[in-house]
Amino acid sequence: MRVYFDYNATTPLAPEVIEAVATASRDLFGNASSVHHYGQQAKAAIDDARSAIATLINGDPSEIVFTSGGTEADNFAIRGAAEALEATGRRHLVATAIEHEAVLNTFKALARRGWRTTLVPVDQSGIVAPERVREAISRDTALVSVMHANNEIGTIQPIAAIAAIAHEQGALMHTDAVQSVAKIPVDVRELAVDLLSLSAHKFSGPKGVGALWIKRGTRMLPILTGGKHERNRRAGTENVASIVGLGVAARLGANKLTAEAVRLAALRDQLEQGILTRVAGTVVNGDPHARVPNTTNISFDRVEAESLLIALDLEGIAVSTGSACSSGTLEPSHVLRAMGLPTHRTQNSLRFSLGQFSTAAEVERVVDVLPRLVEKLRRLTKSPVAARS
Ligand SMILES: Cc1ncc(COP(=O)(O)O)c(C=O)c1O
Repeated sequence: MRVYFDYNATTPLAPEVIEAVATASRDLFGNASSVHHYGQQAKAAIDDARSAIATLINGDPSEIVFTSGGTEADNFAIRGAAEALEATGRRHLVATAIEHEAVLNTFKALARRGWRTTLVPVDQSGIVAPERVREAISRDTALVSVMHANNEIGTIQPIAAIAAIAHEQGALMHTDAVQSVAKIPVDVRELAVDLLSLSAHKFSGPKGVGALWIKRGTRMLPILTGGKHERNRRAGTENVASIVGLGVAARLGANKLTAEAVRLAALRDQLEQGILTRVAGTVVNGDPHARVPNTTNISFDRVEAESLLIALDLEGIAVSTGSACSSGTLEPSHVLRAMGLPTHRTQNSLRFSLGQFSTAAEVERVVDVLPRLVEKLRRLTKSPVAARS
C-alpha cells in the first residue's frame, strides 16, 4: 500500500480534469487570438474557465489573469504593483517572515534594486498579528503581501484585518491564496484584498497554470510583455488545455468544498491524534484552530526529519519536511524558525498534508508504521541534532 500525504506539495489530478485536459489538447488546438472558428473555440473554453475561477473566489471574470502558476502570480502581483506605483514615490514593500519563496525571493530581488522591504514576524503559533503589520507600514508602502494559508503548517492569516490596515495607508493588499483556494472558502470581497494568487496543481488541477485575481481598477504593469493577451496584462499564447483543466478543478473544488473540508479535517485529526498518542515526544506546530483542514505539522523529539522522511518513503509513505524547495537539504524551515521554535524543532518536523484520494485506511497505516520507525531512528541516530533535543 502506497500512501501519498504530500498534497500541499502537489495533488494528483482529478479524473474529470484528466479527461478535460486530454479532450482540450486534442480538440482545442486553435490559437485563442485567431478570429476563425478554431481560435474562437479555444477562446470560449478559456472564458468558461475564467468564469469558473471567478465563481470560486467571488471575483468577476474580467479580473482574472491566467499565469503559469502560483510563482508567476506572486511575481506579477508584487513586481506589477511595484512598477506601477514606483512613480508615486512609494518604495516600500511589506510581507511576513513565513511567506513562500515566490514572495520572499521576489522581495529580495526588488531590495537589490533599491526597494525597502520589511518582513513582519509571526507569533509562536505561526499567525501574524495585524498590529505588527500596522507597525511595519508607512506612508511610502506600496504593497502588503500576506499569504492566506501557510504551506508548511497550514495556519490561516487574518487577511481582512490586515487589508484594512494596508488600505488606511493607501497601500495595495496582495494575498497568496495558493494553499487555501478550494480548501476553505476564499472570497476576494470578504478578504478585501486587491490581488490574489492561486495555482491549479494545489487543488487537483494541472501543473504550470494558475491565476492572479486583480481587483478592477488596480494599477498594474505587466511583467511579461508581448502580444495583447489577457487584456494586455499577460502576454503569451494561452495554455488552453491547462486553463481548461484549471476551470474544471475550480468547479469541482467549489462543488465539494464544504463536504471535503469536513472529511479531511476528520482524517487529519485522526492522524494527528494517532501520532500524538502512539509516538512519545511529539507535538503539533502551528495553531490548532486557525488552519486549513488538510494539514498537520508535527515535531518528533530526537529525530532528524530528513531521516524519518526517508524511512517513511521506504515504507511507501510520502510526506514532506515542509516546503518542497528546501527538501533534500538540511536547511531548517524558515517558517518554524520565524515562529521562534528552537533549532532542533525546525529540523525534526514533518508535514502531513491530505487530499482528494486520502482514506482512513491510509491514516491507519501511517499511525501503525510511525512508532516503529521513530523508535528505530531514536536508537540509531547519534547526530548532533538528535543529541541536542
Ligand atoms: C504558498 C505557496 N505559494 C506559491 C507557490 C508556488 O506555486 P507554483 O508551484 O504553482 O509556482 C506554492 C507552491 O509550493 C505555495 O505553496
